[in-house]
Amino acid sequence: MPDRLEIITRLLQDHVATRRVMASLEHEVDQVAQFHAPDAAAIDAAIRFFTGHMAEMHHPIEDMIYRALAREAPAQAAETKKVAEEHDEAGALVSQLAEVTAELALDCGRTRAAFCRVARSLIAFERHHLRREESGFFRYAGELLTPVAWHSINITAKGLEKTLADAAAGQKTGDEHARGPRSRRRTLALPS
Ligand SMILES: [Fe+2]
Ligand SMILES: [Fe+2]
Repeated sequence: MPDRLEIITRLLQDHVATRRVMASLEHEVDQVAQFHAPDAAAIDAAIRFFTGHMAEMHHPIEDMIYRALAREAPAQAAETKKVAEEHDEAGALVSQLAEVTAELALDCGRTRAAFCRVARSLIAFERHHLRREESGFFRYAGELLTPVAWHSINITAKGLEKTLADAAAGQKTGDEHARGPRSRRRTLALPS
């Protein structure tokens, strides 16, 4: 598979996964807004999806594409520069979501509205961001970047993926040693 196709396909698959996570998070927001008990695991999974795969792989690949576009097609890069800036904004919203989720577990009154506000902001922001990338950024990159640029991005992405996989394997081994055979999974208990 050509490098360009491999990278763009991978990013679009991540967008499908992101929309699935957003739908799941939106359901939990509705639960909280209606004074029902949310699924803490689903909220936790959404936060980990953004702080893990999206922050460590997806956004860095897109940032590499943006830098290549800035070199090879500056006018189109300028048109889509919001894409790169929005990764920082998304990271800030995810941090806020993690904070209000932790507070929600302690206080079911005041933080319920804050949780719903932050989570809904993140959901709307992400949906807009994905549409912006798919309608302009990916199209420009697909049409204008050279095969050499795509190859370099693909090689760097695979190197990053291997580094993260090795780190995760090391972390897992370390955790298993630290926990011992009788350890249990952590669960986050949110109030109803
Ligand atoms: Fe992005
Ligand atoms: Fe993206």
